[in-house]
Amino acid sequence: MNLTALYKGHFIDTPTPGQFRVRKDAIAIVEDGKLLSLEREVPAQFSSLPVKDSGAGVVIPSFIDLHVHAPQHMQMGVGLTLGLLDWLENHTFPRESRFADEAYARSLYPLFAAELLRQGSLRSVVYGTVHLESTLILAQALEKAGLIAFVGKVNMDRNAPDDLKETSEASFKGSEEFCRRLAGQGRVRPIVTPRFAPSCTKKLMKELGRLSQRLNLPVQSHLAETLTEAQWVSQLFPESRSYTDVYNDCGLLGPASLMAHAIFLNDEEINLIMERESTLVHCPSANINLGSGIMPLGRYLDRGVNLGLGSDVGAGHTLAMYRSVVQAVQASTLLRILRPEENHRAVTLSEAFYLATMGNGKFFTRQGWVPCGAFEPGMSFDALAIDMGLPEAVDLSPLNQLERFLYAGDDRHIKTRILAGRQL
Ligand code: GUN
Ligand code: FE
Repeated sequence: MNLTALYKGHFIDTPTPGQFRVRKDAIAIVEDGKLLSLEREVPAQFSSLPVKDSGAGVVIPSFIDLHVHAPQHMQMGVGLTLGLLDWLENHTFPRESRFADEAYARSLYPLFAAELLRQGSLRSVVYGTVHLESTLILAQALEKAGLIAFVGKVNMDRNAPDDLKETSEASFKGSEEFCRRLAGQGRVRPIVTPRFAPSCTKKLMKELGRLSQRLNLPVQSHLAETLTEAQWVSQLFPESRSYTDVYNDCGLLGPASLMAHAIFLNDEEINLIMERESTLVHCPSANINLGSGIMPLGRYLDRGVNLGLGSDVGAGHTLAMYRSVVQAVQASTLLRILRPEENHRAVTLSEAFYLATMGNGKFFTRQGWVPCGAFEPGMSFDALAIDMGLPEAVDLSPLNQLERFLYAGDDRHIKTRILAGRQL
């Protein structure tokens, strides 16, 4: 079946981080959900087809959120001035416990999926809770909203409240069953999810490492988000050389591994991440809210580390990835200003936008999806039409319109959402 559609507009993307590519008044020819080409005119063989014109606005690749906690959606903004560990204990864990109740999950997860859609995050990599059935309900909610996602059942077999703590055996078996029940070629697929080293025993993490290898599944976790947590890890795992090494020892570090935060890594750890081709996920909103620290993003970019960007809701306070893009720029700018002796550089807006689209898209591509994240021939046609609705006299260039949207726009300015050629 050859379903062809034509879209006209000012297309902006970042196939490489260094700069925005702007193609004004272009025609996108989309066939079977993929971009065939971007043309200046409608080619003769398609002249009978209608052209969907996005008008004066801009068309950009839809956003991808590489790190987000669905059960924390409703607590965004709550208790965020506590540090990480107190926030987990006082707010997050008690709230996550409530997802033992499937009716509760059924009532809340569709709202999370709707908000991802509204904010233009059409692909995401999502944490559920330790609860198998509720996390399957989360996967169904994302599927039903038409979104593409990886979803993980969280594992914790220590240092968690009693009602969230599983036995190692139950945690592993639950994950295995979760991955089996969600496996397949659907839009929503499983990801192995040890929460973070402090809440998992080595025995459990090793089993999860083997599970990911046996079923060829990706892995997500948290790494070196705060100094207190990192010190705790060195006490809990005295035999490991570093925090990163704990995951490596357990077979959890590979090209399909996403490690969120990674603020406090030494050179040896960065080299290990690069050797394993794992991806570090920057979550600037959460890092500033919880007072954790600032990832040296510019330095990682310059070293060629695989990088992505996440909202990390609910430690992050918005699902809008366009805000995370700006926060990444702001955080790196603060690092440069505040620690001049360390020679940090601010990242550019195009670099941050690249992470939220093309950079994050590489994770999906590596997992066997049709490539996504930019408007290149053969890529999945994932797009948002943005219109700021400014008076014509303001006369902003397409690139200036995009800049204004990223900093000061909101979901009202997202007029159309298209995923794999399908309007949602
Ligand atoms: N580390 C372990 N769990 C969490 C979580 O839910 N959020 C954040 N930001 N860090 C964590
Ligand atoms: Fe997180």
